[in-house]
Amino acid sequence: MCGIVGYAGRRNAQPILLDCLKRLEYRGYDSAGLAIVGDGLEVFKSKGEIAVLEASMPAMKGTVGIAHTRWATQGKPTTENAHPFSDCTGKLAIVHNGIISNFMDVRESLVNDGHKFTSETDTEVFAHLVEAEFKGDLMDAVFNALKRVDGTYAFAVVSEGSGDIVATRRESPLVVGLGDGENFIASDLTALLKYTNRMVYIHDGEVVRVSKDSVTIKNEKGELVTREPQKITWNLEDAEKGGYPHFMLKEIFEQPEAIHDSLLGRVESVDVEPFFAGNIFSSVKIVACGTSYYAGLVGKYIIEELAKIPVTVQISSEYRYSSAPRENPLVVLITQSGETADTLGAAREAKKRGNKTIGIANVVGSAITREVDHVIYTRAGPEIGVAATKTFVTQLVALYLLAMELGIQNKSLTAQARRSMIGSLRNLPRAVQDVLNQAEVIEALASKYAKARDMFFIGRSINYPIALEGALKTKEIAYIHGEGFPAGELKHGPLALLSKDSPVVAIAVKDRTYEKMLGNISEVSARGSPVIAIGYEGDTELARYVDDVIWVREIPPVFSPVPVIVALQLWAYYLAKARGCPIDKPKNIAKTVTVE
Ligand code: M6R
Repeated sequence: MCGIVGYAGRRNAQPILLDCLKRLEYRGYDSAGLAIVGDGLEVFKSKGEIAVLEASMPAMKGTVGIAHTRWATQGKPTTENAHPFSDCTGKLAIVHNGIISNFMDVRESLVNDGHKFTSETDTEVFAHLVEAEFKGDLMDAVFNALKRVDGTYAFAVVSEGSGDIVATRRESPLVVGLGDGENFIASDLTALLKYTNRMVYIHDGEVVRVSKDSVTIKNEKGELVTREPQKITWNLEDAEKGGYPHFMLKEIFEQPEAIHDSLLGRVESVDVEPFFAGNIFSSVKIVACGTSYYAGLVGKYIIEELAKIPVTVQISSEYRYSSAPRENPLVVLITQSGETADTLGAAREAKKRGNKTIGIANVVGSAITREVDHVIYTRAGPEIGVAATKTFVTQLVALYLLAMELGIQNKSLTAQARRSMIGSLRNLPRAVQDVLNQAEVIEALASKYAKARDMFFIGRSINYPIALEGALKTKEIAYIHGEGFPAGELKHGPLALLSKDSPVVAIAVKDRTYEKMLGNISEVSARGSPVIAIGYEGDTELARYVDDVIWVREIPPVFSPVPVIVALQLWAYYLAKARGCPIDKPKNIAKTVTVE
């Protein structure tokens, strides 16, 4: 996720672009830059937040320009990899939000044609493609360049001597803001609200030419499109969080897109093959903290099911100081921030033990990426809320992909089984969207139970760690004492805690443990505790056993943790809202824990 913005008007573009860019900083903040068309075409960019760019940049003169704030996905967060990118002539500049999945092939062919690249990014190929296709009209060049790229994108292009911005999108957001004698483009209308509230949404495949006095939209076939602007009623305060009251809720709702991005160009491989080369791993150890640890626990079930190799999971701070066993596992370190001190220490320990290491991280170029042999990025975009939500779900996606690779490598997974898993992975955004569509129902239910002091979460098999993660979210955000248990363990002690005042959330999807789960739910009900179940749509039997149900779409059980955790994230969020908690910044905890 990155933010792009463009201005074509009569005023000096530089301060306007910087101002708009700051409102997009939630979309990325590892580098930023802008390109201004004045007497010539000037590009300035730098590593770090927009404030760093602002402090270091010269005054730039010109009334047309584009700007970008980056969240790295391909290529480290450096000045060289910051946008905008120029072509070989330096006469055009582009910015991009998205991922070009076939960039390696395109780059190779452009290099063979003599193009010179200055960065490691996927984006730069588009600058050279537009250069190659330019025959005098920028819009035509963009149309032709698009024929050679796959992936998701919102691009904006400017060129020397022209008053136009040409922009286009596919599956990444793009809006045009209409002013008087000036027009804008942006990834998010919130960036533009200070200047205009009249917006035109650009649709997938369309290309738009924006100048100070006109906006021309063409569809994929090159036909002119007429679209009425919409009047937006949001104020600037709403805009900070894209209209959501909290970053946590916004990030929960971004999950279909985050899953989609995490799968893009990867379902056939997560590029681990060269890393695997020759190594057949007979065991895996996953090491992480907090929510990432729970993702690791889910990963154990996934890898054991798909790759049939034993997996152990350990908390980083415990692993670091444990004694090394004789085995030589593949060590997988999961950390969204990539900066968690305990997990960094664990990565060093794994190296010392001579183990091969893979990191699963969300922040490109973060410290963990320098400590491991191979990195799988989660592509969730920046997560601002302290509670991990979309990064957890995309960690699960990375683990499904890794498990498939391990399964293929050791021949536990057939090509046909893999194809069917890929189909299920591709359906996950829809299953998540179904849950998000029930937000109001979940809010009403959460309000009913929000006064509880204690709340228990039970699950079995692959949904046992999801019960743990649901409990963590509830503790962290709603300040309710939440505890997760494997449902079969209740009778070995925890049943003693149950009463009518302690609601129990039971995950009861139809898998091989379903009948046992119904038995455990009966044990709970018999102690007078209200039961809120999460089950598969249409399960009338489950509805008879419990007080309330949250439904998720029926999908193969190995993938059920994804929609189920989204339901529990909303559950925790609405509990916290009903209790008036400071949701994005819960007391006593920090987003990134850089101390031991
Ligand atoms: O950045 P990391 O994934 O390494 O962070 C690990 C934990 O600190 C983190 O998951 C924490 O538990 C979250 N705040 C939970 O929502």
